[in-house]
Amino acid sequence: MKYRVESKDQYQQFYQTSMEDQNKYWEERAQTFTWFKKWDSVQTGNFKDLNVEWFSGGKLNITVNALDRHAENTPDKVAIFWEPNDPKESPIQYTYKELLEKVNQFANVLAGQGIEKGDRICFYMSMVPEFLIGVLATARIGAVHSVVFGGFSAKALAERINDCDAKLVVTNDEAYRGNKIVPLKNITDEALEKCSCVKSVLCLKRTGGNIKMQEGRDHWLNELLDLADKEFQPAEMDAEDPLFILYTSGSTGKPKGLQHTTAGYMLWASETYKNVFQVGDNDIYWCTADIGWITGHSYITYGPLLNGSTQVMFEGIPTFPDAGRFWQIVDKYRVTHFYTAPTAIRALEACDEKFVNEANLSSLKVLGTVGEPINIEAWNWYNEKIGKKNCPIVDTWWQTETGGIMISTLAGVTDVIPCHATLPLPGVCPMLVDNEGNEITSNPAEGNLCIDRPWPGMARTIYGDHERYRQTYFSTYPGKYFTGDGARRDKNGNYRITGRVDDVINVSGHRIGTAEVEDAINEHEAIVESAVIGVPHDIKGESLVAFMIPFHSDSSSQDLLTSVNELITKEIGAIAKLEKAIVVPGLPKTRSGKIMRRILRKVASGELDKLGDTSTLLNPEIVDEIIKAMK
Ligand code: WTA
Repeated sequence: MKYRVESKDQYQQFYQTSMEDQNKYWEERAQTFTWFKKWDSVQTGNFKDLNVEWFSGGKLNITVNALDRHAENTPDKVAIFWEPNDPKESPIQYTYKELLEKVNQFANVLAGQGIEKGDRICFYMSMVPEFLIGVLATARIGAVHSVVFGGFSAKALAERINDCDAKLVVTNDEAYRGNKIVPLKNITDEALEKCSCVKSVLCLKRTGGNIKMQEGRDHWLNELLDLADKEFQPAEMDAEDPLFILYTSGSTGKPKGLQHTTAGYMLWASETYKNVFQVGDNDIYWCTADIGWITGHSYITYGPLLNGSTQVMFEGIPTFPDAGRFWQIVDKYRVTHFYTAPTAIRALEACDEKFVNEANLSSLKVLGTVGEPINIEAWNWYNEKIGKKNCPIVDTWWQTETGGIMISTLAGVTDVIPCHATLPLPGVCPMLVDNEGNEITSNPAEGNLCIDRPWPGMARTIYGDHERYRQTYFSTYPGKYFTGDGARRDKNGNYRITGRVDDVINVSGHRIGTAEVEDAINEHEAIVESAVIGVPHDIKGESLVAFMIPFHSDSSSQDLLTSVNELITKEIGAIAKLEKAIVVPGLPKTRSGKIMRRILRKVASGELDKLGDTSTLLNPEIVDEIIKAMK
């Protein structure tokens, strides 16, 4: 495979070129893709002016590279093995040629709904093949996809639809999730009561459940797809035209719509997939993420297809019909490359060992993890029970904002160190800075993780709010991209990510902003104010705990927890539910009125000797009362 890193020496060499002659490095790789017109310049702009562009002047369509190239060269190679939620239902498979036809049909359906280049389309779907096909069709027609994970509430969906001014929503009647059914269309209907921008809804029939179709607005997707033509002329996109918007939580305010553009993202998704996983022509790759998150964008929808891989796409959950499902699927498709999240590993580790022992798993060659720091117990279990100590584990660190993997072992090429992401990929210049923003150059070191220079896959802006983009990522340490993560670096330069250093909590690999949850809790009629923190959790990594001041001092924590969780489920979605609620008479605040979550975290974890100086608080006496309430 052209330009794939094949050895440790080559990694060093590639990395060095990418730093010393960045334009040459990326230009060589860009040339391996299909372009309608070549670019004028490789990279322009910088972190100061926040005007970064890659391959400007170039014209292309990402789906030509993900589909047409392979439909031409390897038409009969399977692109997708789709495994349904219920193992008794028939699986579906598409070759590259078939997938291209499906995407073309979907693009024709979108065109029939009046969708044009640049329009935003929102997807609120479960992991059915049409989800992947629709997202690719959006890119093919030159529109912008904005996927919202199917676990978000009607309110959260409406906010995201309105923020990006989506014209069309694609959903399914209902989703199968294990033995549960999620009423996606009903939730969409509720959301759309507040969205005047949406002109049409395409609804896929999946369960056949009873739903309402609004005349003139809603259309059955299956029927339109059946009638659609299998040819479609892909739109000519500028390298910097937006490809997608994806919402993610930060430490303040509402979720932000990170906007990624076409050419740079394409290169990043493709090159990182190729180098990190080292998937061979006859290998079978499986990423268990949902397309609702960035991992499902870069390492289901784009990375594997850009490289012509065969992959498994799974509709269901790891524990249905039983906790052996992942391993049964690995055996069924002879999966060679398996990519999942630490939270899934821990959840399955906690189940009866027989589920793993019953599986063969001998097809596996490479294991991957993403989304949160992996603890050593989970790492060991993954390595021993799943990998049989025979598969390198790539611990891939990256973010929605980075578009693709930034720091990771390259499978079978660079060294694995348990619980370490290890070394930066070519093109990535990480650095650690202290709280004053000074770079720490010595090793070993610990500090705030920043990235020093533009890379092709970086998000270019927050949709509709470039100033917020600057504020959020480039103002803490001017001239550098601040990740929000802390990290350690060992004497050989290997990175270990320690977790968020801001007010973002990572629950089961999902980013939850404390401010968002507090806003939801504060809507509760019985609550004056609240503060949310993350505490360690055996399976989820972290879970949410809220300290709440009620209007009536006799309110019980348990009663409030139930009703607050109902409210959170409505405002955000079940993923943001609290593990615990503690009624307190007040919250520790600085003199400027900021809640000191650091103190709450120490109280919650019982580290009362590490509270630090509380005398500068506006209300130091409150700390003792909170400690009492905890007990
Ligand atoms: C965390 C997911 C430790 C980190 C791709 C980051 C990780 C946030 C790792 C981004 C890893 C992701 N080790 N922590 N291998 N991968 N994280 O945007 O805190 O959903 O900032 O992107 O997840 O989450 P996001």
